[in-house]
Amino acid sequence: MKEFYTLADLKKWKTTAPDIAPAIRLGIFGDPVAHSLSPQIQNAALQACGLDLQYAPFQIHADELGTALRLLPGLGFVGVNLTVPHKVAAAGLVDELDPAAKQAGAINTIRVEGGKLLGFNTDGSGFARAIRQEFSVDLRDLRVLLLGAGGGAGRAIARQCAVEGCERLVLVNRTFEKAEQLADELRSSFQEARVLGPVARLEAVEWTEAALRFQIANIDLLINATSLGMRRSDPPVLADSLLAPHLMVYDTIYTPARTILMHAAVEAGARAANGLSMLLHQGALSFETWFDRDAPLEAMRKALKLPL
Ligand code: ATR
Repeated sequence: MKEFYTLADLKKWKTTAPDIAPAIRLGIFGDPVAHSLSPQIQNAALQACGLDLQYAPFQIHADELGTALRLLPGLGFVGVNLTVPHKVAAAGLVDELDPAAKQAGAINTIRVEGGKLLGFNTDGSGFARAIRQEFSVDLRDLRVLLLGAGGGAGRAIARQCAVEGCERLVLVNRTFEKAEQLADELRSSFQEARVLGPVARLEAVEWTEAALRFQIANIDLLINATSLGMRRSDPPVLADSLLAPHLMVYDTIYTPARTILMHAAVEAGARAANGLSMLLHQGALSFETWFDRDAPLEAMRKALKLPL
């Protein structure tokens, strides 16, 4: 096994692959890809199910994606995951898209079937399952505030909140126009009236302390989908004084495991979770897409060293 494979390896796969056992029939395409935890969780799942296959990382540049994908059916691949920067481009390169993927305009999972590439997006439904697991509540019962609504993860989460019909959704983004545009896209899902007090069911708000303070009094779940918190030098996503005991706080960041935001949330008496559960559940849903069977969640969770 190499640290990662490349398009050059795929092109001569019939000479590269025979030496590798178990056979590589699944993988993740990304650039960079070496840091990905997906091989860890998917290989644990394959082993737990007694499937004699292997999942490997592939470093594929943006301009190589089409060529790499087209090689998969001929090489007997079951499927692949897509990560940065491929999710949007891949949606335009596959033969068919499932409805969630079509709506998202981005995919993170491909299944190879009868020589065709079928595209799926498990990010949103993985997020919904993660919230249920972490806080024992359904998204549809929650009033949600999403920081970082303009990024890839933020858009997938916002769309899922709309699909599940959450009580209320507040979109916040450094570049305000992106939050506004997303609110416009999702408006039709929030027509039905709910009893919410003096606030709208769906709105994009400016990222100011005053606006956040008002909104946080009227939400249950606060999500960080910005990239803030990955580096030790990052400033806090929001002022500690905005965090309150009634909140559930979900940070899509998971390195460090107890993120800066989680720490501040727990100090404020709130409940908090990191993004590993989202990674776990989107991976489990990919596995289910490939093999039409339940994913061995406990084995996958163990591979991520999450508490059982
Ligand atoms: P993607 O997920 O599409 O790769 P990204 O560049 O990683 O995008 O950014 C993810 C999110 O983090 C975006 O919502 C981004 O805000 P902008 O749309 O304004 O770029 C947000 N983000 C990144 N750095 C940030 C910062 N320093 N402060 C606030 N938000 C930030």
